[in-house]
Amino acid sequence: MTALPVWWQKAIVYQIYPWSFQDSNGDGIGDIPGIISRLDYLNDGTEQSLGVDAIWLSPIYPSPMVDFGYDVADYCNVDSRFGTLADFDRLVTEARQRGIRIIMDLVLNHTSDQHPWFQKARASRSAPERDWYYWADGKDCWRRPSNWNARFGGSSWSWDSFSRQYYLHSFLPSQPDLNWGNPALRATMFDVVRFWLDRGVQGFRLDAINWLGKDVRWPDNPIRLGWRGYTRQTHLYDRDQPLAHEVMRELRSVISAYRDVVLVGEASADTVGGPAAFYGNGSDELHTVFDFRLLKSPWQADRFRTVISAAEQAVPSGGWPSIVLSNHDQSRHIDRYGHGGDAGRRARAAAVLLFGLRGTSFLYYGEELGMRNGTLRYRDLRDPYTKRFWPFRVGRDPARTPMQWDASAQAGFTNGRPWLPVSDNASMVNVEWESKDPLSLLTLYRHLIRMRKSTPALLMGSYIAMESGNPHCLVFMRTGKELTPPDSDMLVAVNFAARTVTCFLAGPERTGRQLLSTHQRNTDRRPWTSGRFDLQPDEAIIVSLT
Ligand code: BGC
Repeated sequence: MTALPVWWQKAIVYQIYPWSFQDSNGDGIGDIPGIISRLDYLNDGTEQSLGVDAIWLSPIYPSPMVDFGYDVADYCNVDSRFGTLADFDRLVTEARQRGIRIIMDLVLNHTSDQHPWFQKARASRSAPERDWYYWADGKDCWRRPSNWNARFGGSSWSWDSFSRQYYLHSFLPSQPDLNWGNPALRATMFDVVRFWLDRGVQGFRLDAINWLGKDVRWPDNPIRLGWRGYTRQTHLYDRDQPLAHEVMRELRSVISAYRDVVLVGEASADTVGGPAAFYGNGSDELHTVFDFRLLKSPWQADRFRTVISAAEQAVPSGGWPSIVLSNHDQSRHIDRYGHGGDAGRRARAAAVLLFGLRGTSFLYYGEELGMRNGTLRYRDLRDPYTKRFWPFRVGRDPARTPMQWDASAQAGFTNGRPWLPVSDNASMVNVEWESKDPLSLLTLYRHLIRMRKSTPALLMGSYIAMESGNPHCLVFMRTGKELTPPDSDMLVAVNFAARTVTCFLAGPERTGRQLLSTHQRNTDRRPWTSGRFDLQPDEAIIVSLT
């Protein structure tokens, strides 16, 4: 008998970047009352809304916002830019009434340097909080304790002139790393977890988990000749230590006292054993872990095929995959995949993969509209990382521009001056306009989400790669026959070429009905056969097999 899926396995999770979703008070920054006013868009129970089951909220904690919330100054409150704890409670209640759960972002590796813990730690070497962070003396001749370099550039060590030692920060100097070897820190952080669970939160997206734990003898990392920046050294000692897994196991046991809580992990692609190592034995660490290989892949069938198979194999029994194409740290996928081709058509095909592959689907706000990277001038930029590498890297600000609700002056996002400029294309790419257009990307997303939720094979079926006879064509099946009760097998085929291709499936002929094509209106149910079928340029189809 097939185990019934738990809520988060079937869920469509929508990532909200709070700065950019909806402003309610005209200060140009999104806020929680703004999010509440837009909940019906996400799920009002009708076919008109998106059908989202959960919101992943990027950090809303009080913060100096040097890293836009990933530098937390108080884990048990809400930043006044976004509202109050009472607003947050109302969000949980109003979301729940619409069948939407809240997943909080949790930054475990570091705090802000403005956090009272760090303030106390730096004020006195004998404060209990001193050991909640990493401190070290320099080597002779004013050399830093080790050669470690930080993810966002520069050394990982900064000198604290007050307490006259170096402190460690794996990201920005204003983000000191926490020492998870300290039991009091651990206990306090697990109380933070309970604080939010008691308020009705049903999951956590765990930030940068493979950075937890360091080799505190501070050995130098080996240098990689010919490489630059962060990759100039092999990060043997400043991350990827067994302690990170120990903490995940403890966290799993903390949340197991609550019902139906999900832990979603973000770990770097090159962590030891790959991000999937954070599934542990399949049931003792995280429920699901992002695999960014799909997100990083160029728009090529063979690359997608390889990456999907590798990602499928990486998930141990008991674990569950997540499918994610965009987030707040990356250039939007319509621009990435669209490079050198028809971006609009490719975004439609990518949507079929997002909802056709096995795993929980994560959407990044605005991707359902086809929001593009904003074209920003240097003076518009806010993110230190984006500024540091501008104009050589796209950076992160272009993917964080305000949500495009309508064709009004600031796209319906704010009555004030938005914190980042609204994209130029907002007059055409917006919720109001696309809601009326049966061929819009938004209409396709709504349709695919409904189809996925009502099709057991798409939700729970196994993934089987198929040979299509054409290198540009990616074909796979999601099996329904093995489920209890059995469902039809579903076939997904995507043409990555900019021309029409002909495909066929080896083996006994199978027939079915094509339920969806990204090139046609959504009502298509034409007969289909595996012997020979054509796919238009960048077309994706879903077929129910008989
Ligand atoms: C988050 C980033 C953040 C970094 C440091 C990442 O994994 O997604 O937005 O800047 O961690 O917290």
